[in-house]
Amino acid sequence: MSMNSASAQGTAGGPVATESAERAGRPAGRRNVGIPVVFFDTTLRDGEQSPGSSLNASEKLEIAHQLVRLGVDVIEAGFPASSLGDFAAVQAIARQVKGAVICGLARCTESDIRTCWEAIREAERPRIHTFVSTSDIHLRHQMRVTREEVLKLTREMVELSVSLCPGDVEFSAMDATRSDVGFLAEVLATAIAAGATTINVPDTVGYALPTEYAALVDSLYERVPGLEKVVLSAHCHNDLGVAVANSLAAVERGATQVEVAVNGLGERAGNAALEEVAMALKTRQDLLQRPVNIVTTEIARTSRMVSSFTGHIVQANKAIVGKNAFAHESGIHQDGVLKEPMTYEIMHARDIGLTESDIVLGKHSGRHALKSHLAEIGIHLDGPELDEVFRRFKATADKKKEVTTADLEALVGEELRQREDVYALKHFYVSAGTDIIPSSQVAVHKEGAECAGKAFSGGSVESIFLAIDDAVGVTGRLMDYQVRSITSGKDSLGEVRVVVEVDGRRYAGQAVSIDVLEASAKAYVRALNNVAMNREAGGARGDRLYL
Ligand code: KIV
Ligand code: ZN
Repeated sequence: MSMNSASAQGTAGGPVATESAERAGRPAGRRNVGIPVVFFDTTLRDGEQSPGSSLNASEKLEIAHQLVRLGVDVIEAGFPASSLGDFAAVQAIARQVKGAVICGLARCTESDIRTCWEAIREAERPRIHTFVSTSDIHLRHQMRVTREEVLKLTREMVELSVSLCPGDVEFSAMDATRSDVGFLAEVLATAIAAGATTINVPDTVGYALPTEYAALVDSLYERVPGLEKVVLSAHCHNDLGVAVANSLAAVERGATQVEVAVNGLGERAGNAALEEVAMALKTRQDLLQRPVNIVTTEIARTSRMVSSFTGHIVQANKAIVGKNAFAHESGIHQDGVLKEPMTYEIMHARDIGLTESDIVLGKHSGRHALKSHLAEIGIHLDGPELDEVFRRFKATADKKKEVTTADLEALVGEELRQREDVYALKHFYVSAGTDIIPSSQVAVHKEGAECAGKAFSGGSVESIFLAIDDAVGVTGRLMDYQVRSITSGKDSLGEVRVVVEVDGRRYAGQAVSIDVLEASAKAYVRALNNVAMNREAGGARGDRLYL
């Protein structure tokens, strides 16, 4: 059965697995068989809390549009009270992105909830997501409140949220998996009585194992009055590498929403990976019998976009979206797949939107061809933005025979990123080779003025970075530097990713170019732009709360 054609049957909390399900090896008595799983994407909130992440407002907006094309049901756009920058980005998404619920996160405080509401109120379908801790560890050591106070906060703050955003309020019990289950059930029952429509049970510290998490879902369904009438959500962190397994275990026991992030981004080891949960549900529909609305052919593109904008490179052997996920190396496997793909393939590369040949344009392609190809892949550009991407496309096509979809996505990503930049690399010159000390000269545009810098040092890349420091007047400490090719071939675009530490905080930068020295210079300038953005936002980005 195709995922999108699977129909929802029965009522929430209703149908349970039948005898045939038991024959298929599934436990009997499962809840919500046939009910679709709501995909709640938190790439722009929890995912953005990945160390070194630094999305600007236009990148967030572009990702949100792509998440709609991917078919997610709910987009958690950010945490509006955490910084002015986050507020503005959530508001822009709420105003401009149609086709999904737009959700903002808020602590259980009046000011967080009102700020959140201001940011999301213009959305087609807004949701307030409010949370409070329920574990004794958090209550005693972090919040310093009693259980009674947590119950009172829950009731009052859910009521306030419902008064602002009637009909769609999510409540999360932070650190639910380390909470006393009796108290957790009491808090969740209070939230439901106060009007919460979605109840989230986060494994905040990634501590639970799948059987345990499944048992918690069962136990909550038994203990919490009214839970079967609202959406029950799983939010799993990957500290022990089981976030996806935990999410699927919760779905098997009846959870009706999963909170996931593209490429598994998120705080520390990340959240459950959207693409893995979606493809597991699709591929094992026979067993799980829970339809989802995800348009799986958009997965590869979404993954590339998020990787390129956040600067977090996807590991080659990552399930579903890693470079090797569909590669067969052993002769026996290759032989089997050639004879019959099903011998070693449980899903097809095309199911996630990978095509064998994506060569699209060459140096004779015009502006119109570029515009319509971009539109085909869901990127709508016009005016000066299109002009700039066209200029970069031509420069690339002059040096590279074939420009692929992946190349275009990388070039457009760069263009979007530059829209809000304080610094822009104007030019650089390097002299390097054996037996000479590398030296570099750079010019950087800074608020309308051109600043020059120069440096000599042990390596050509190092000399470029030092020359940029000299031009900009900021000293960054390089913590990580990675280069990879976007496609195969010696003429491939090179992608460089840097992590730079300034004033004790880390900032990522990423750039692409035919020339890796140019990509290195641009990636470094990009990281310094993130430093500048953070300073403009009063340092709020680096001071994010630990969630
Ligand atoms: O992990 C967590 O507990 C969270 C909550 C804010 C939902 O991210
Ligand atoms: Zn989380």
